[in-house]
Amino acid sequence: MSEAVAETVAERFGELYAAAPDGVWAAPGRVNLIGEHTDYNDGFVMPFALPHTAVAAVARREDGVLRLHSADIDGPVVELAVDALVPASDKGWTAYPAGVVWALREAGHAVTGADIHLASTVPPGAGLSSSAALEVVTALALNDLFALGLEGPQLARLCRRAENAYVGAPVGIMDQTASACCEPGHALFLDTRDLSQRQIPFDLAAEGMRLLVVDTRVEHSHSEGEYGRRRAGCEKGAALLGVPALRDVPYEGLDAALDRLGDDEEVRRLVRHVVTEDERVERVVSLLEAGDTRAIGPVLAEGHASLRDDFRISCPELDLVVDTALSAGALGARMTGGGFGGSAIVLAEEADVAAVTKAVQEAFVAAGLTAPRVFEAVPSAGARRLG
Ligand code: GLA
Repeated sequence: MSEAVAETVAERFGELYAAAPDGVWAAPGRVNLIGEHTDYNDGFVMPFALPHTAVAAVARREDGVLRLHSADIDGPVVELAVDALVPASDKGWTAYPAGVVWALREAGHAVTGADIHLASTVPPGAGLSSSAALEVVTALALNDLFALGLEGPQLARLCRRAENAYVGAPVGIMDQTASACCEPGHALFLDTRDLSQRQIPFDLAAEGMRLLVVDTRVEHSHSEGEYGRRRAGCEKGAALLGVPALRDVPYEGLDAALDRLGDDEEVRRLVRHVVTEDERVERVVSLLEAGDTRAIGPVLAEGHASLRDDFRISCPELDLVVDTALSAGALGARMTGGGFGGSAIVLAEEADVAAVTKAVQEAFVAAGLTAPRVFEAVPSAGARRLG
């Protein structure tokens, strides 16, 4: 399957640039099992990679020219000069690969140009990290072609730098690390403070369960400023509590911390979400490591309630998925990703998948909403070279 994709993408590269690429690489989108809006608070996250990937056919250049093309946009080839890349100057899809070239060069790596053709199966705007996939696939290809010797976590850091400084989105490190470092059959337990990671076996099919992704088709966007506002609120909370980041507020000390915040209700809610969410990640890790997989269901549902009521980033469509799935017998469900639309995840017994899916689809019809896209998420491989 990946060979066929690699061939198609290489062929199109040949048509566009009249030469064969030096290679073809892939990097996946992700879903986050638990640990939402914790990654810019130095906290814990637990994403896994989707089978959906961004694929890049790339050839190295020595002349300072960067040429970019996307099969998904299918406009003309965009030509840029690597030494004239300017942060925040580009609002389109080219900002992701160009931002990575900029970030690599800013970090002192001699990237002297490239021809790049990209094609992605990660649905855009669905909260499944389509942009991180574009960044990571570009970074991995350039790492190989320019023999930079960078490892997955370093590539993830550079991609985040690209997204923060060049694209202008104030995101954390989760999505890029997931795309760069995930392994098939595992979820990635990541400490976003020291970037230590642990691969946690997560093979639901072997235990008779499934994890569904329900893309509500409500397009989320970080640029609207709500993400940045939540982030600023968390930083305010940490400053008021005199800690470097909300990660440093112990779960056992939460009530005392909330008391200290007095009547700043908004900051109190943000702090409560982050501190309880970090505890939920640790609980999910313990349950999975103890082989008690079904017991993570209620923890996912708690996480959703916290994102909806305290962090206030859900939306009616996401709540509808979660409430309907739980009433139809799902073990757990929650929104995933940045919020304000995008996707929810649903954990269900294999035998209940059809009924739960039907219930969610009927609920959307009854509410007069666009039908959601539902697919099973199997923990898949992180970024890799295809050919
Ligand atoms: C987006 C960001 C991540 C993370 C999540 C919320 O996906 O890119 O860094 O903050 O939202 O958990």
